[in-house]
Amino acid sequence: MIYPHIERRNGELFMEQASLRLIAERFGTPCYVYSRAALNDAWHSYDQAFGARRHRIHYAVKANANLAVLDTLARLGSGFDIVSAGELARVLAVGGAPERIVFSGVGKTAAEMRAAIAAGIGVFNVESPAELERLNDIAGSLSQVARVAIRVNPDVDAQTHPYISTGLTDNKFGVPMPEALALYRRAASLSHLKVAGIACHIGSQITALAPFIDALARVMALVAQLAQEGIEIAHVDAGGGLGIRYQDETPPPVADYVAALCRAIPERYEICIEPGRSICGPAGVLLTRVEYLKDTPTRRFAICDAAMTELIRPALYEAWHAVEVVQTPPASLTAHVYDLVGPVCESADFLATGRHLPLETHALLSIMSAGAYGHVMASNYNARPRPPELVVDGEKVHLARPRETLAALFAEEQLLPTDSP
Ligand code: LLP
Repeated sequence: MIYPHIERRNGELFMEQASLRLIAERFGTPCYVYSRAALNDAWHSYDQAFGARRHRIHYAVKANANLAVLDTLARLGSGFDIVSAGELARVLAVGGAPERIVFSGVGKTAAEMRAAIAAGIGVFNVESPAELERLNDIAGSLSQVARVAIRVNPDVDAQTHPYISTGLTDNKFGVPMPEALALYRRAASLSHLKVAGIACHIGSQITALAPFIDALARVMALVAQLAQEGIEIAHVDAGGGLGIRYQDETPPPVADYVAALCRAIPERYEICIEPGRSICGPAGVLLTRVEYLKDTPTRRFAICDAAMTELIRPALYEAWHAVEVVQTPPASLTAHVYDLVGPVCESADFLATGRHLPLETHALLSIMSAGAYGHVMASNYNARPRPPELVVDGEKVHLARPRETLAALFAEEQLLPTDSP
């Protein structure tokens, strides 16, 4: 199996030294389980690949924002890439170093800018002229100077799903290259901004090096122009990390990716990256049980207790996640081709389609590579409480977030007043 720290022992799936069957029995299903060792290894693989080269890893909080995950990475010395005041609060809650926080995103509100400046974050990745002006005004009102990088849009096709591609002119992200120079001049002239770097993120789940290299060539051409005008930057932020192997993708090794960055970006610049998926994706699984097997004239369905509410990626991006039966079933159980669906009232509610598996009612399944963009994208649709999140550390299993209670789902909702018939 290709999953870090997950292996089958005596016909049963283990994460590190913990049995996934016992975890499901103890905490119920559905539940997410993350491996601390896999998180550590993934982060270190980036860090070590840079060697002595000056670099900074800003873990993209959006991929998995659980405090235990953030804490694990903060303890390694990671920085963080945030996109909201909520993510800022989460990072601060685990004692993440504010100066190692990068604030990305196209829609930062005034209140979010104030909170981030007050916290003393490292840099704002600015995505539009209007945002630059607002940031200068707000920093001024707080008598502060905010450090900025401009996120440029290099118009490069990242060859990924259109919903997670961000570096094309048609995307809402970044400042188009032809406008970036003028915006840097403006930034350099504003008294409450300090130009610190340049940023570029072309998309997620990228499994080839060429788009990164193309984008960085364009970025470095702009950096050269800036230098000619006396606008010096200190760091180049190359954006999100590598894609991962869900099915048969072949992402390059992290070392090759980092070597390509080091070649593309001259020594004098610090290199920053914002990996999310590649840190926490392979480190996590979603455990679910088969509630019913249902045959129709054209299909066999395995109706599971997890749904698009727990893992929306298949419904939203037609994403493919491997499915493992946690306990190898007896050889006498016949495999069939199943669609794995959830109980939610949507035809898009599927976890996997067309899987040849030996299934029986109550079989425990592990949806693989669900550590990134799983729980963070979960919803309460159909009044479903969100599942617990567990972190395995050797043989220990930590409850990082309990299952939501039904009462909590509507605890803060109010009836209309009785005098309003
Ligand atoms: N930095 C920026 C500015 C980003 O927009 C993203 C992801 C990242 C870093 C992290 O990229 P990663 O290393 O995870 O590829 N929900 C989608 C993915 C959305 C990614 C959005 N931006 C999915 O489940 O595939």
